[in-house]
Amino acid sequence: MKKRLFAALALLHVLSLAVTALAQQRVPNKPGVPLARDLQAKMPAPQAVFEWAYPMAPTGGPRLDPDEVFTVQGADPALKFTRREINNGFGPPDWFPKDHGPMPRVVSNGREPHVRACTLCHLTSGIGHAESAGIHGLPVKYFIRQIVAFKEGDRVNIRAPNMIELSHDMTAQEIRDAANYYARQRPAQWKSVRVVETSRAPANSIAPSGKRMFHKGAETMPVGPMTIYEVAESDQVEMRNPRIGFAAYVPPGSIAKGRVVALGNNGTFRSCASCHGNDLRGREDVPRIAGRSPSYLVRQLADMKYGYRKGKALGDMKEIAPKLTDADIVNVAAFVASRNP
Ligand code: HEC
Ligand code: HEC
Repeated sequence: MKKRLFAALALLHVLSLAVTALAQQRVPNKPGVPLARDLQAKMPAPQAVFEWAYPMAPTGGPRLDPDEVFTVQGADPALKFTRREINNGFGPPDWFPKDHGPMPRVVSNGREPHVRACTLCHLTSGIGHAESAGIHGLPVKYFIRQIVAFKEGDRVNIRAPNMIELSHDMTAQEIRDAANYYARQRPAQWKSVRVVETSRAPANSIAPSGKRMFHKGAETMPVGPMTIYEVAESDQVEMRNPRIGFAAYVPPGSIAKGRVVALGNNGTFRSCASCHGNDLRGREDVPRIAGRSPSYLVRQLADMKYGYRKGKALGDMKEIAPKLTDADIVNVAAFVASRNP
């Protein structure tokens, strides 16, 4: 009797494992599409001085309860999602449906198994997070060119594997739909970054989610001349609240020094505005850089300088980036991020 019960229980266990496996992978992977987790180890390591601009989640943190329920400030209080739902790669929550027009399915849900929902990392507003990218208000042509660049190996870094995987499976229509949706989200509507020039920042560190978070308490830590601490404004970023951005603590004097760089570094190159438009808000298919995450800006300028963001599409940045010293990169990012989007 006992033996039979044991066999039945064992069978049940095997069945439940099979069901879980099925639920986790409903659609099989496509041959030829590289997986983000396999790409990770092949990515170039960041320059040591810029490691802070490529935030990676520390491993071995505590396991967070997937069934914990959350609401977000300002949203319909009836909207409640569990941590598991908030982190669902194929349908994260839309906390503020009235903030935006119709969302194409690729943006809100992605497509299994390789194209994860854009809103998972870039949010419904497009403001994104310091470890991803703000993609709202980008020119459609520029946007499309970037998906192609990820696919062709012209944009590689330790933050890029997810983009590389999905770029290999997006259809031309999906790319256009996503580009058009995010071009319509207005940069000025939600501020993605608040720049604070200071010699000391509130104590902070990178959370298991890869976001830099404040420690609760009054301690501070020094902001060195080559470091920017870009810290989530509140825990609400963990809930993917699309209205909450980051505070960036930039080194003393960096904004004034960055302004000189942006004006062409005393005649070393053309001013950033000559291509990126008045107030650096973008022009034709050259993207807006004003008011964007300084970590993101540093990542891009460093990758261009050291040859990890490359290719024909890069155009004139190919000549400009190598003329920037590492200090110029930090300073110009502080200045550009401090401008209104
Ligand atoms: C798992 C997270 C994640 C998902 C999901 C994701 N992205 Fe990204 N995306 C990133 C990161 C990280 C970067 C910045 C990479 C870097 O630092 O170079 C990025 C960069 C981009 C850029 C380049 C922005 C620029 O200014 O050049 C575009 C465009 C983009 N993503 C579009 C999309 C679209 C469209 C989708 C949905 C189909 C999507 N992303 C889904 C993480 C993600
Ligand atoms: C001669 C024209 C030109 C000048 C001058 C110029 N840029 Fe650019 N920049 C571009 C173009 C074109 C792109 C888009 C490249 C692409 O499509 O990949 C770009 C892209 C960028 C990006 C990537 C944006 C993103 O969304 O990923 C950053 C950051 C940037 N430029 C910063 C600067 C800064 C800072 C300066 C001044 C020091 C500057 N640029 C000067 C033409 C220029």
